[in-house]
Amino acid sequence: MSQHDAVEVILAKRDGGELSDSQIDWMISAYTQGVVAEEQMSALNMAILLNGMSRREIARWTAAMIASGERMSFDSLDRPTADKHSTGGVGDKITLPLAPLVAACGVAVPQLSGRGLGHTGGTLDKLESIPGWRASLTNDEMLAQLASVGAVICAAGEGLAPADRKLYALRDVTGTVESIPLIASSIMSKKIAEGTGALVLDVKVGAGAFMKTLSSAQELARTMVDLGTDAGVNTVALVTDMATPLGLTAGNAIEVTESVEVLAGGGPADVVELTVALAREMLAAAGVSGPDPAEVLASGKAMDAWRAMISAQGGDPSAPLPVARETHVVTAPSSGVLTRLDAMAVGLAAWRLGAGRERKEDAVQAGAGVTWHARPGDSVTAGAPLFTLHTDTPERFDRALAALEGGYEIGDGAAYEATPLILDRIS
Ligand code: URA
Repeated sequence: MSQHDAVEVILAKRDGGELSDSQIDWMISAYTQGVVAEEQMSALNMAILLNGMSRREIARWTAAMIASGERMSFDSLDRPTADKHSTGGVGDKITLPLAPLVAACGVAVPQLSGRGLGHTGGTLDKLESIPGWRASLTNDEMLAQLASVGAVICAAGEGLAPADRKLYALRDVTGTVESIPLIASSIMSKKIAEGTGALVLDVKVGAGAFMKTLSSAQELARTMVDLGTDAGVNTVALVTDMATPLGLTAGNAIEVTESVEVLAGGGPADVVELTVALAREMLAAAGVSGPDPAEVLASGKAMDAWRAMISAQGGDPSAPLPVARETHVVTAPSSGVLTRLDAMAVGLAAWRLGAGRERKEDAVQAGAGVTWHARPGDSVTAGAPLFTLHTDTPERFDRALAALEGGYEIGDGAAYEATPLILDRIS
């Protein structure tokens, strides 16, 4: 354990050098065990953010994070496995209809999900608005549910990549989140340790995403696809738009309702398009070519899988969902065409209404969030509802309204051009 010391490793990266395999292995292991101090790892993270890492360093850093904990295996299942990971966005409820849809097509989906981070929503927070549903499962429960239902959405156990758990919390408070090597290794260490056979990444780009430019999102996607492929996971990435929020809702229970509409054959066109596109990628990556996800969605089989998946985790899929105590309607100030709806503004408003947390230990409000009544390209009429804000605590309305200010534009629509939802595919 003592062939290196933290200062030597920090200086090497600070001065633009490449870290050796043994420096990386030692640093991650010593940090996980508390031998390297938080301030030392935080200095190294900043040096990595500023000076980057080579492909070899990123691969070794990821491998060291995987080695800090357990590896799961789904080899005993009679079906192939595929998982999906989104880098985080606003209104991104896609995992909810997607996991049961892919399960209904014959591929098992072990979906380890997270909670909301800043203005971005979290799948577990959304599902916890369903009465009785629980996010924590043991590895054995997860395997049993994959065998019986074919889909699980749950929290990652404590034993999976514990180095990332510590590192992520540190990066969150030291301005070192937006580093491609650190994001890629954080996401991929958990996905590789989870043991999925195939992985489809939804790399978000735009105002509401961590990556603001197409080129940075493409670089992140390429880095993660290479890490997955090198580790034997069949990995593909779609780069998708997050300048505009997905669907018509951002929050918790209101996003569950929208997801159930998609499973029932309705729902907003963009949510359906992305769900079906990702399902097709997951089936292909898992080597399954027969079923057409669009047909399976229309058949009601994905809804059956959803109900089974929610029930298996203690939830009541028929129970009414929580509704916020107060609403506030924002009307369109003029008539015309909605030409812009900013994902960051909507995400921030939903967060401030109580759909997200201010501190890690805060509880979220199940009913809080924002509904928008038009999407870019739609006509709006002066005085008609444009947004509905939902919260249990009406003193939050002012700050949410401030977040929405400047977050949308209404024009004559002459120069309006729709942006494609799927911008690139990287394999
Ligand atoms: N999600 C993760 O799990 N890690 C990151 O670094 C960013 C998003």
